[in-house]
Amino acid sequence: MAKVALITGVNGQDGSFLCELLLEKGYDVHGMVRRTSQFSRGRIEDTRQRALSQGRVFELHYGNMSDPSSLHRILAASRPDEIYNLASQSHVGVSFEEPEHTTEINATAVLRLLECVRHIGLKARFYQASSSELYGHVAEAPQTELTPFQPLSPYAIAKLYAYWIVRSYRETYGMHASNGILFNHESPRRGENFVTRKITYSLARIKAGLQPVLKLGNLDARRDWGSAQDYVQAMWLMLQQPQGDDYVIATGETHSVRDFVERAATRSGFDIAWTGTGVDEKGVDRRTNRVLVEIDPRFYRPVDVDRVQGDASKAFRQLGWRPTVTFDALVNLMMDADLDRVARESGGRA
Ligand code: GDD
Repeated sequence: MAKVALITGVNGQDGSFLCELLLEKGYDVHGMVRRTSQFSRGRIEDTRQRALSQGRVFELHYGNMSDPSSLHRILAASRPDEIYNLASQSHVGVSFEEPEHTTEINATAVLRLLECVRHIGLKARFYQASSSELYGHVAEAPQTELTPFQPLSPYAIAKLYAYWIVRSYRETYGMHASNGILFNHESPRRGENFVTRKITYSLARIKAGLQPVLKLGNLDARRDWGSAQDYVQAMWLMLQQPQGDDYVIATGETHSVRDFVERAATRSGFDIAWTGTGVDEKGVDRRTNRVLVEIDPRFYRPVDVDRVQGDASKAFRQLGWRPTVTFDALVNLMMDADLDRVARESGGRA
């Protein structure tokens, strides 16, 4: 009998890679999707059509993390062996604008889902999408599973609740439940309002003459950027262990937003130089003197985590997991994908 997996947030970047991985491994896959007025399954529709044409199970269920009856219905109908809770209000910046909604989805709803699992009496293994944002005002670098959490944003504080409630269910009820403390992970499927994708998509549009300039906030924030496709492997590996546990998943390298812009600009044929400071800083193409990057204070956050760098030694040791995509390769991959995409969108004129 095929194993059954349920993925909440299946149509997000990570959900789309995870459902492909689980289908490859022979799982029956169920995904929970929110109803939206616009079609929001672009990342998974091809996979779903392919799976259905091969007679595989890839079923989507309307549901909402705020609606306990929908969670109950989906769990009872799918009876999963493994649950991957990827549903989230995933934008840290937006969490300052919508703190209560963020807390509802990223904290309370995780408890709700765990309670539904317990009340139905499912023996499912549980993966929780935890985050390097928990480290907040970072106490040390690099960060491990033992580094103190000092979260800063409403997003991170809600994720901290989720982290502890998952540990509590593991310890109190003996549930096989794991937190994947994932550092930033990217791909051409990343949403356009996260900084990496915003950079690659905007530079491709500038190149094609479709956008005048790329406007960014904090250029000096440092992140540990890995490949989303690598990171979903780690999620699956966590649920194959004899016990639930918590793992940092990271590359160990840290780069600034500025580094990301420079490499993406080089890949797209620009040669960027920085002039000015603070909000007056600009990124200028040396060859043409054209301004490519400007600072827009609207993209500053009230507080920002500034040095994120993970130490994934525990995952290397216990899961046998390794990141396979370097920073340069990741930037190139994303930049090339957006150059292609914009060329297609503009009818090959780019
Ligand atoms: N989004 C965005 N837009 N970020 C900008 C911009 C901008 O115009 N300009 C500078 N930044 C800076 C942010 O201030 C932050 O320091 C950094 O770029 C990265 O921002 P995001 O790409 O939005 O990601 P994040 O680090 O806040 O959070 C992501 O990674 C976490 C760890 O895996 C999200 O995916 C979270 O959901 C996830 O938990």
